Amino acid sequence: MSKYLVTGAMGCIGAWTLYHLQQQGKSVVSFDLSVDQSRLDLLMTDEEKAAITFLTGDLTDSAQVRQVIAENEITHIIHLAALQVPMCKANPILGAQVNVTGTMNVFEGARNAGLQHIAYASSIAVYGSPNQYTTDILPHDAPMMPQTLYGVFKVANEGIAEVYWRDYRLSSTALRPYTVYGPGRDQGLTSEPTKAMYAAVKKEDYHISFSGKMQFQFASDVAQQFIMAAELPLSGAYSFNLGTPPITVQHVADTIMKLFPEVTITVGDTRLPFPEGFDDSQLKQVFSHVYETPLEEAVQRTTEILRQHIR
Ligand SMILES: NC(=O)c1ccc[n+]([C@@H]2O[C@H](COP(=O)([O-])OP(=O)(O)OC[C@H]3O[C@@H](n4cnc5c(N)ncnc54)[C@H](O)[C@@H]3O)[C@@H](O)[C@H]2O)c1
Repeated sequence: MSKYLVTGAMGCIGAWTLYHLQQQGKSVVSFDLSVDQSRLDLLMTDEEKAAITFLTGDLTDSAQVRQVIAENEITHIIHLAALQVPMCKANPILGAQVNVTGTMNVFEGARNAGLQHIAYASSIAVYGSPNQYTTDILPHDAPMMPQTLYGVFKVANEGIAEVYWRDYRLSSTALRPYTVYGPGRDQGLTSEPTKAMYAAVKKEDYHISFSGKMQFQFASDVAQQFIMAAELPLSGAYSFNLGTPPITVQHVADTIMKLFPEVTITVGDTRLPFPEGFDDSQLKQVFSHVYETPLEEAVQRTTEILRQHIR
C-alpha cells in the first residue's frame, strides 16, 4: 500500500500536492512546522482534508523525521519544506538548518526506512545571474553559480542527493521551479504576480515591483510534476529544470487586466538577477507527461478560486 509523505505541506506547492494526492485517492501524511491550513483551505473542503494525516513537526529534528517516515510506513516522499530567499537572508543559520540539515534528515530518514527514492524541491536559484552566461535560455548542464544563500543551500541539497545515490543507492529526483504562481503563492521573492491576482479579485490596483522575462509555472502543475517525480522509478540522482516559454511580467499583468478591465496592474523597472529561462528538454525526455497549463487558463482558475474563497 503506497503512502506519501509531503514535507512543507502547508506551503503553496505543498497544499497543491496534498490536493492532487487526495484527488487521486492516495494515502497521505502531511508534515509541517506550521499548523496554518489557510492555503489548503483555498483548495480543499474539510471532508476532503479528513482523509489526510496531519503531523506538526520540525524538519530540523532528525529523530522526529526518522520516526515519522518509519512509523507511518511511508513509501513515497515529496520533500518541499524550506525557507525561501528572503527568510534565508534574514536568518542564515536557521536557513541552513532547515534547508540543508532538514534535507539531510529526510534523506537519512528515507535510508533508515529502506526507501528507494525521494522527490524533492530544488530551484533555479542554483544557477547564477544572466551576465554570467552567454545565452538567455540556460542549458540543463549550465554551471551552477548561486548568488544567494538559498541557492547555495539548494546546490548543497543536490550534492547530498548525489552522495546518497553513490554511497547508499538511494535515488532521487529534484525539480527546479522558477516563478511559481497560483492560489497559495503569498510569500517569497516572486510572489507579487500572484498578489496582483489576489488584488484584482478584490477590485484593487497593484504594482508588481519587477519586470523582465521569466518562466511562470502554475502551482497546480508543479505539484503534479512532483507527484510524478516521486512515482517515477529513476535510478540515480537527477535534477530537472521546469520549463514553460519565458514571458514578460507585463504579459502577466496584461492577462490579469484582460480578465479584470476595471483594475490597473503596473510593473516596476527592477530586474531580478535570474536568466530568462532554463531548458526543460531533459524533463520532457524522461517524464511521460509535463504539466503546463496555459497562462490565461491558470490565471482564470486562480482568480476563480480566490473569488470563491473571498466570498
Ligand atoms: N515558490 C516558488 O516559486 C519556488 C521556486 C523554486 C523552488 N521552490 C521550492 O519549492 C519548495 C516549496 O515552495 P513553496 O513555495 O511551497 O514554499 P512555502 O514557503 O510556501 O512553504 C514552505 C513550507 O515549509 C514549512 N517549513 C519551514 N520550516 C520548516 C521546518 N523546520 N519543519 C517543517 N516545515 C517547515 C513552512 O511552514 C511552509 O509551510 C521549497 O523547497 C522551495 O524552495 C519554490
